[in-house]
Amino acid sequence: MCGIIGGVSPSDITSTLIDGLHRLEYRGYDSAGIAVVDLHGRLARRRAVGKVAALAGMLSDDPLHGRVGIAHTRWATHGRPHTDNAHPHMSRDSVAVVHNGIVENYAALRDELTAEGYCFISETDTEVIAHLVERQLRRANNLREAVGAAVQRLEGAFTFAAVAVSEPDRLVAARQGSPLVVGIGDAGCFVASDTYALLPVARRFIYLEEGDVVELTGNSFRIHDAGGRLVERAASEVQSSLSVSDKEGFRHYMLKEIHEQPDVVARTLDTWLEGGHLNPDRLAPHARALFAQVRGAHIIACGTSYHAGLVARYWLESLGIPCHVEVASEYRYRKQVIMPGTLLVTISQSGETADTLAPLREAAGKGYLASVTVCNVPNSSLVRESDIAMLTRAGPEIGVASTKAFTAQLVALAILALALARRDGDIHPAESAWLHALRDLPESLRTLLRSDLGLDALSSTLSRGNHALFLGRGIQYPVAMEGALKLKEISYIHAEAYPAGELKHGPLALVDDAMPVIFTLPQDHLLAKTCSNLKEVQARGGRTMVFADDRAAASLQGNGDVVRLGVVPEPVAPIVFTLPLQLLAYHTAVVKGADVDQPRNLAKSVTVE
Ligand code: M6R
Repeated sequence: MCGIIGGVSPSDITSTLIDGLHRLEYRGYDSAGIAVVDLHGRLARRRAVGKVAALAGMLSDDPLHGRVGIAHTRWATHGRPHTDNAHPHMSRDSVAVVHNGIVENYAALRDELTAEGYCFISETDTEVIAHLVERQLRRANNLREAVGAAVQRLEGAFTFAAVAVSEPDRLVAARQGSPLVVGIGDAGCFVASDTYALLPVARRFIYLEEGDVVELTGNSFRIHDAGGRLVERAASEVQSSLSVSDKEGFRHYMLKEIHEQPDVVARTLDTWLEGGHLNPDRLAPHARALFAQVRGAHIIACGTSYHAGLVARYWLESLGIPCHVEVASEYRYRKQVIMPGTLLVTISQSGETADTLAPLREAAGKGYLASVTVCNVPNSSLVRESDIAMLTRAGPEIGVASTKAFTAQLVALAILALALARRDGDIHPAESAWLHALRDLPESLRTLLRSDLGLDALSSTLSRGNHALFLGRGIQYPVAMEGALKLKEISYIHAEAYPAGELKHGPLALVDDAMPVIFTLPQDHLLAKTCSNLKEVQARGGRTMVFADDRAAASLQGNGDVVRLGVVPEPVAPIVFTLPLQLLAYHTAVVKGADVDQPRNLAKSVTVE
């Protein structure tokens, strides 16, 4: 989703901004741009559709120089990817802005500003911000007041940064709806959508609160809150482990991240284990007392994180805890019935997903016992605004298609389920077997990743078609959903997941010899049922690909490709079965020559509704 970077520096800032844009690329975007107040005090701008490399190429042909500037990667919402729609947007050559979010009242503002003689060049909602700031600047004492006054007129999500020729030594930015971090370094003061963009130039970071307006000069910054009061916000030093490493010899970030999963699982698990045993105090000092009051859970998330929530429902219910799971964008607009003792659980890789953040913010006063977030980004909005944060230790995930963050979420959710299942301090009878399976999991995943699963042939079959069905039963149904999501995200093949038992109620009509049908087959109480569904597909000439526990595979007869995954303990089966499905999607996308790490139209951090 849109990425913002800007700053004020004692030296030329252009290369810092372009480097920052490269670091924001993983978020997903379709065009990029930069504007600086140049050495003559004029606004100079370059914009390009496509990759940041195209913008960088433009700058090497036609350089810009300035000490104050803003830059942006755009993920189109209003208006197609086009140079005219790329940010920064300017007003009367005196103000430039970059924006992340959606200005919901832009149409009315556009009419108002047009009537006053402002000229609109783009199809975006953002251009109204540039004109509003320019108009306010004529009335206000300075850029900060002008930005503050513009903010008062805007509705929706409108984190933005602005520079003006009238104040060539400063940058003013406002946070509303999507994150903005201030970074302080030897080379100046900066703002950006995330910490990663600023790692080469800043060591101290300040995470702005909703409604904050920050004013940067080369060596200082001031923050005003939503009420216009000058405020201090806590600064944190960056941890060196936050640095975005390279691909370490892997062809794509996604493949590297798939291979990191054994370590990620081990690291995440260690957070809450002590001597191999679960210590609920490690979730939060008050976790034991709080969890004793929990009578059920509502899990809210989007995309892959939603699938993690669906897996968790099976786990929680198997341990006797009622659970409801819902896609955040739907949950938010429904009338919810919240029973006493309900825990709100949000799950998010980024911690900034607007759809997931909104229900958390609206939860206050609705009767939830407390909120827990399972999240991969420390200091993210979800982490800061939840009562308890369970941080997954996946490290930065660069591939837009989530892999290691998902498995880390599952580990955290398994731990949460066990902690909630303890009643009056009594350990649930299943806990010991679960922990045993979890402790052995990193090694099982390593073995799996080292083995030749024979996915090349399956990927090449999938890559020749346009559709695929993923089927699983019970807890494997969300695993199938995640497998289908991975395939469609990065290979653009239409993939649908169904509970295998639902096949005969409709989707069976799709099955012929051109429809690959992917099954996951663990050794569990549903094995015989899933095998029957497999037969139904094979009887109709469907091309089956079965990912099976070794014991389950032994009961398979007949045709079809079978990928054996070893003996998989039931509590960790959703995690183990996920890895080959990630690899299947990855190899299929590679065969198709798709942009694996930055699939078209998608964003890593979805900060608009
Ligand atoms: O950052 P979040 O986990 O809240 O993001 C939720 C979804 O946008 C995300 O999982 C998305 O579905 C990914 N592209 C999945 O690969």
